Amino acid sequence: MGKVLEVIRVSKRFLGLQALKEVSLHLEEGEILAVIGPNGAGKSTLLNLLSGLLRPDSGRILFQGQDITHLPPEARTHLGLGRAFQIVQPLPELTVRENLLVGARFGKPQVRQKEAEAWVEEVLRLTGLERRAEALAGELTLLEDKRLELARALATRPRVLLLDEVMAGLRPKEAEEAVALVRRIRDAGVSILFIEHLMPVVRALADRVVVLDYGEVIAEGTYEKVAQDQRVREAYLGRGA
Ligand SMILES: Nc1ncnc2c1ncn2[C@@H]1O[C@H](COP(=O)(O)OP(=O)(O)O)[C@@H](O)[C@H]1O
Ligand SMILES: [Mg+2]
Repeated sequence: MGKVLEVIRVSKRFLGLQALKEVSLHLEEGEILAVIGPNGAGKSTLLNLLSGLLRPDSGRILFQGQDITHLPPEARTHLGLGRAFQIVQPLPELTVRENLLVGARFGKPQVRQKEAEAWVEEVLRLTGLERRAEALAGELTLLEDKRLELARALATRPRVLLLDEVMAGLRPKEAEEAVALVRRIRDAGVSILFIEHLMPVVRALADRVVVLDYGEVIAEGTYEKVAQDQRVREAYLGRGA
């Protein structure tokens, strides 16, 4: 197994605030990696640097060995780096299927319409949205919304998927379903880096966990290992997050 994504000594400062400080981490091929940490730890900043919404002040980001540090978001999507957002942002006037087609065309503009359509049907099956394909995106339940957000990211045919608290707001039972879906996505050959607040979800999903605190990696390992780590415990207790 190789590294599909590599963050090498990345730093990011906002005015006086060091949001990330020399952060290094990587994602293995086929892995599900959780990035956790108290509020303000730098998780969203990291994801924004990975997806290209932000540029680091220093350090490098490699995707499948290629330096993508200065590539814009669309170019990263085209290479196979997909992202799903906490705030779902489908086009409400379009059907579920149409939303996915937009994602498929955007993600891989060189792909033919027929191929994009076939891929969309596969994504509908994988995400359990087949029966809702003709529904308007604006009329979905919260759980369906989350499925659509994952499906939209999948429609771009990513090799790596970045997930930003996609389980937020789900009931425990729904979160369980979403966990099963994320597993299916990984089993379909997509490596996953996710940010999540819900510890049961982290525990259920993550092969490995990286813990950020004040912009620095303070622990890394299995869920069981980091959950027992003294620095991690203090970081969470200290701010009650
Ligand atoms: N655009 C921004 N401008 C100024 N400060 C920011 C900006 N984005 C994030 N920050 C600050 O950077 C730190 C890390 O934020 P963030 O990455 O959102 O943390 P997390 O997602 O772990 O809660 C916080 O102190 C936050 O206030
Ligand atoms: Mg955040």
